Amino acid sequence: MKALVTGAGGQLATELAARAPEGWDVEALARRDLDIRDATAVDDAVAFSSPDLILNAAAYVAVDKAESDPDTAYAVNRDGPANLARAAARVGSRIAHVSTDFVFDGQKSRAYTPDDATNPLGVYGASKLAGEAAVRAEAPAALILRTAWVYGPHGNNFMKTMLRLMAERGEVRVVADQIGTPTAATGLADTLWALALAGARGVHHHTDAGVASWYDFAEAIGEEGHAAGLLAAVPRVIPISTQAFPTPARRPAFSVLDKSSTWSLLDRRPAHWRGVLRGVLGEMGART
Ligand SMILES: NC(=O)c1ccc[n+]([C@@H]2O[C@H](COP(=O)([O-])OP(=O)(O)OC[C@H]3O[C@@H](n4cnc5c(N)ncnc54)[C@H](OP(=O)(O)O)[C@@H]3O)[C@@H](O)[C@H]2O)c1
Repeated sequence: MKALVTGAGGQLATELAARAPEGWDVEALARRDLDIRDATAVDDAVAFSSPDLILNAAAYVAVDKAESDPDTAYAVNRDGPANLARAAARVGSRIAHVSTDFVFDGQKSRAYTPDDATNPLGVYGASKLAGEAAVRAEAPAALILRTAWVYGPHGNNFMKTMLRLMAERGEVRVVADQIGTPTAATGLADTLWALALAGARGVHHHTDAGVASWYDFAEAIGEEGHAAGLLAAVPRVIPISTQAFPTPARRPAFSVLDKSSTWSLLDRRPAHWRGVLRGVLGEMGART
């Protein structure tokens, strides 16, 4: 069986390629090999590769930059997935696409289910929501997996930024009034593969288990990073409010995702984010 993975080199694509189930060949294409905005290039690549499954891990994820560059955000996050879904339908491939907790406005105080009303607060979330709709319009049987707060040893993410700042300064200020769930790219890749292989369709959610603020996440990175030998000392983490750290894009204050549909399809539950973080940092520490 063959899978085409887009966005190679990114956090999720790297883990999708590394964690392919037995019997699957993966062709992972980076942006320089396949720009998903280019409909003709997408058609050619999909026709040439003729994959059983397309896993779209390519995205424009610069949440703040998207506010001043909506054309690029929509081209990558809406038109690109539409191109892939159209090409998939043409050759009879299945397609799995990844979306975000930022499709929600964060006004709820209980976990968001896949059917909850969406209302993105910024361009990134709106462009990703438009991507979901575009994929479903072109390929009604598509799998769409929303996730949140993704981190891992590859690519750019909050955990790596924190480790760098903590090592440089010994002290960081982090917002404490945005609540979500840190999610390792490894587990996200495993869940995407498992759902795709189970033939899941429609919208589902995956994050690690538990709930945290960015402040909680940073504190845990400091403690576990020190325990793993990645930080010389446990850093000081100072909680601040979103108001004290203004950004171009508004972010949901609460974006915990309800994962029950995923759990019941796969008959398994994700591990708690803190233990998963310990494992990721432990492996990074063992390699240094
Ligand atoms: N990161 C998070 O916290 C988070 C949270 C919720 C949802 N998600 C979703 O999870 C998925 C995976 O995200 P990630 O964290 O793995 O992101 P990532 O590490 O930034 O990877 C995205 C990849 O897409 C590539 N890309 C950008 N524009 C492209 C284009 N026009 N054509 C082809 N490739 C292109 C990037 O290449 P370049 O490096 O060359 O630009 C990069 O390799 C995305 O759908 C994202 O929206 C992520």
